[in-house]
Amino acid sequence: MAKPILIAPSILSADFARLGEEVRAIDAAGCDWVHLDVMDGHFVPNLSFGPMVVQAVRPYSKKPFDVHLMIAPVDPFIEAFAKAGSDIITVHAEAGPHLDRSLQLIRSLGKKAGVSLTPQTPETSIEYVLDRLDLILVMSVNPGFGGQQYIKAMTEKIRRVRAMIGARPIHLEVDGGVTPANARECVGAGADVLVAGSAAFKDAKYAENIAAIRKAAMGG
Ligand code: DX5
Ligand code: ZN
Repeated sequence: MAKPILIAPSILSADFARLGEEVRAIDAAGCDWVHLDVMDGHFVPNLSFGPMVVQAVRPYSKKPFDVHLMIAPVDPFIEAFAKAGSDIITVHAEAGPHLDRSLQLIRSLGKKAGVSLTPQTPETSIEYVLDRLDLILVMSVNPGFGGQQYIKAMTEKIRRVRAMIGARPIHLEVDGGVTPANARECVGAGADVLVAGSAAFKDAKYAENIAAIRKAAMGG
């Protein structure tokens, strides 16, 4: 049986004035995870929200909260995001000099640990931390904004990361510009989790949008 493909809508594309209801809506629409993009205006050129907002929307879904931290430094904030109700905490390989320590900290708090790579970072940069990982997130746009175009060269990176993962139980997530038009390409290269912001929230047709991405990802 083919491995299931997980769809993780990014609430960066939600209506922030109704964030709780938006989380409830994507949950009801059949998402697998809820993707929460945290931006600090320093590591990335945009600001979004912090742990208080994660905690505030937590009651609106029982699905895993996949928290993508685009912040530097990251270590001082990991515990707050763990306490806020994150299930998976992903840090950027480029966000600090001690990635191995950040990953240990996440797991010591009982959470799943992820690492994200911006488009220019080679997959070899995480070769020695693989056994500390539950998830690898390949950014397919430059982090900071929703609604950008998928960077084609990332398909080859997904393929290489999948080969590097081998038999380890590590999810491979793609984030940025994912649509029904390229979902199959990502999955064909080895991704098993697709983040979608604009494509999931488009016209508030959550269920239709998620189903379209899932269908395309599964090959038709
Ligand atoms: C970008 C974020 C993404 C983004 C996805 O920094 O990490 O999660 O919001 O949005 P789309 O799918 O619109 O590219
Ligand atoms: Zn993200």
